[in-house]
Amino acid sequence: MIPARYAASRFPGKLMQDLGGKTVILRTYQAALETGLFDRVFVVTDSNIIFNEIKNNGGDVIRSIKDHDCGSDRIAEAVEDMDVDIVVNVQGDEPFTNKEGLEEVLGVFYKEDAHRIDLASLMTEITDWKEISDPNCVKVIVDKNNFALYFSRSPIPFPRDKNTGVKYYKHKGIYAFRKDALMDFYRLPMRKLEAAEKIECIRYLEYGKNIKMAETTSQGIEIDTPEDLARAKKLISEEAESPLVNDTFKNFPMVPKVVFGKGCFNQLETILSPQRKSKAPFIYIVDDVFKDNSGLINRIPLKFNDKLIFVSTNEEPKTSQVDEMVSLIKKEYMHIPSGIIGIGGGSILDLAKAVSIMLTNNGSAADYQGWDLVKNKAVYHVGIPTISGTGAEVSRTCVLTGPDKKLGINSDFTPFDQVILDPDLTIGVPCNQWFYTGMDCYIHCIESLNGTFLNAFSQSYGEKAFDLCKEIFFEGNCNEAESRAKLMMASWHGGMSIAYSQVGVAHALSYGLAYVLGTKHGIGNCIVFGHLEEFYPEGVRMFKEMVKKHDIVLPKEICKDLTETQMETMIDIALGLEPLWENAIGENWKETITRKKLRDLYLKM
Ligand SMILES: [Fe+2]
Repeated sequence: MIPARYAASRFPGKLMQDLGGKTVILRTYQAALETGLFDRVFVVTDSNIIFNEIKNNGGDVIRSIKDHDCGSDRIAEAVEDMDVDIVVNVQGDEPFTNKEGLEEVLGVFYKEDAHRIDLASLMTEITDWKEISDPNCVKVIVDKNNFALYFSRSPIPFPRDKNTGVKYYKHKGIYAFRKDALMDFYRLPMRKLEAAEKIECIRYLEYGKNIKMAETTSQGIEIDTPEDLARAKKLISEEAESPLVNDTFKNFPMVPKVVFGKGCFNQLETILSPQRKSKAPFIYIVDDVFKDNSGLINRIPLKFNDKLIFVSTNEEPKTSQVDEMVSLIKKEYMHIPSGIIGIGGGSILDLAKAVSIMLTNNGSAADYQGWDLVKNKAVYHVGIPTISGTGAEVSRTCVLTGPDKKLGINSDFTPFDQVILDPDLTIGVPCNQWFYTGMDCYIHCIESLNGTFLNAFSQSYGEKAFDLCKEIFFEGNCNEAESRAKLMMASWHGGMSIAYSQVGVAHALSYGLAYVLGTKHGIGNCIVFGHLEEFYPEGVRMFKEMVKKHDIVLPKEICKDLTETQMETMIDIALGLEPLWENAIGENWKETITRKKLRDLYLKM
């Protein structure tokens, strides 16, 4: 909860001041969201201006009904009817709120003496006497277990003896309350010490509550004065000039929860119920091939105002489609959904990921196509594949066709929070579909294992997936239960393998086909791959054997009627995927991969 009052005695309107292109309050809101520590983040305000600022930027904001003297009262009113255990009060004027400090303050509720804690707050050591003696800076003293003894604007303790090595701590205005303690506070009248010092948390001490102080080293800047604002602006412009770059090694998120096994789909309700937020629905995005499949649809645990959206996957997912779905959901519901659940193949899973991201990020999905452009944590999202091979259930991307490119939204917030792998859900997939999507996995392995980005991490996943693919497509067939379970695991491992390396030539060319002709990913890869002996001789040889074994007939001459513009666009799209080429060929790929070469390849397809 971010209490935000427009009038501030020392610096009126400070929360609406511009700070590097965004208002202070919006920056604070986004910083709190970005920590990823909270189920929900709200601004609570008495002001129309602040209300509209957050609302217009797609944020969650609550209007105070009553007048309040302090931030705690304001958030108490807002959470009174919410079902919450811990409420964190983040100051609206702390645009540099960071994860570390909030993690510290939340962490105290998981320690031994947690039962003694009514609320927790944060302090940071200060050493400059000017700051120690500044009445704008609230100091705190603590007992040996870091419970607060007193807060004051005076320097405490008074340093009569200057050689005791006593430390001074500045109180930072971040609180984590048990809801009961917060509601108590709301009901208890102010007493004299609080009134004299004008420090809210003294009220808790006056009523005998225990405040646990966590220590942080991060200083941040509170915007209390115009000078603070100037310092903050400087900090932001410095950050923009010299971003901290130390990303030699990829630091990837993984799907935190996965359940596997025949029939595990029935566990969906148990999995979802702790994630349900009152009044906020679960939205199911389901492949419309299941529209008449009551066997599956009846097992979806629809409750309250949950919603099923059937989506056709005749075409690859588009950014415009994501934008439309997000705006429909926002129009229909007052609350951001409790979760988005995708049930289907790679396209549906990618749509579910994209929608969950766009519910908490402004603008169009097209703005986020690329690497690490997503700012805010996505809504809780669950992936339930009903066909295996794409690796979409485990990947850090969701591939979308946008107005000018086909590219994934690749970010730390993209991967699912939960995946449900039930091999029974893939029963009934047509055999050619099974083959095309399975080959996507096979091609992931070939491209990863033959790429220059290969490393032991990605190799270990790629080799396992490759072996599974061989077992499935040389020894098994599309209707076997064992093949279904194996392909589910192959898809997962293949997805992991490319996450830690990259795909290659087949994907680059197939993205071109998809963009210009709308060719779907699985079949597009198959069309391309048969012509890539030059890049993957052994992989292509095996691929052709598998095509034969399963009597697959692939389309031919699909590029022969392309207009010149279409061909040029296709080449542009393929060449634009630089990391793929760099993985496949190496740093100097531009020497051999020419426009002419791609044209010749496309003309063969
Ligand atoms: Fe793929």
